[in-house]
Amino acid sequence: MIIAIDGPAASGKGTLARRLAAHYGLHHLDTGLTYRAVAAALLARGLPLGDEAVAVATARNLDLSRLDRDVLSAHEIGEAASRIAVLPGLREELVQLQRRFAMEPPGAVLDGRDIGTVVCPDADVKLFATASPRERAKRRTTELEAKGKPADFDKVLADLERRDQRDANRTVAPLKAAEDAHLLDTSEMDIETAFKAAVDIVDSVYAE
Ligand code: DC
Repeated sequence: MIIAIDGPAASGKGTLARRLAAHYGLHHLDTGLTYRAVAAALLARGLPLGDEAVAVATARNLDLSRLDRDVLSAHEIGEAASRIAVLPGLREELVQLQRRFAMEPPGAVLDGRDIGTVVCPDADVKLFATASPRERAKRRTTELEAKGKPADFDKVLADLERRDQRDANRTVAPLKAAEDAHLLDTSEMDIETAFKAAVDIVDSVYAE
């Protein structure tokens, strides 16, 4: 069983993916962390973000069991991840890694930007989570404040919109909903409501 969840930053897809994986007893991979881990390794070694060969070599050494969102959540790592995500060779390497993960029994929930379109086009269920930019910026600001990092709403909103632009407009595997994805607009939902809506979608696909 493979569940693919795509969507823009702060759409709720990560929390949904984690909770769905626990609910159905599946593995979970936040594919954003694979791009972030490569970006973090390049930044730490002062290597250029635009050198495809260096990025690919770094990706080959990734250990998926050691990806830590707390360490990789830094803003500058997210920015760098979005920049290196335009490199086709790097994407190929990471997609192979992600597919291998998805094939491990009993199956997995993967979340990212191109899971339903590129990584797992044959996923059993595809969800595309969205929420208005203002709502997503509000969530991100609250999240940052909870971590004791004061955040400016307008700056967070501008950052999100810039990242959406870059992720949606790149030529290789841009952020977009697969044709057969179920859209889940979480703007008006708290996480519990969004989770129940996602379970209803997955269960209804399985009841067919
Ligand atoms: O979901 P995130 O913020 O951790 O992702 C960081 C960046 O990685 C995002 O801006 C674009 C890139 N990414 C991608 O191109 N494809 C994915 N499947 C996941 C993330």
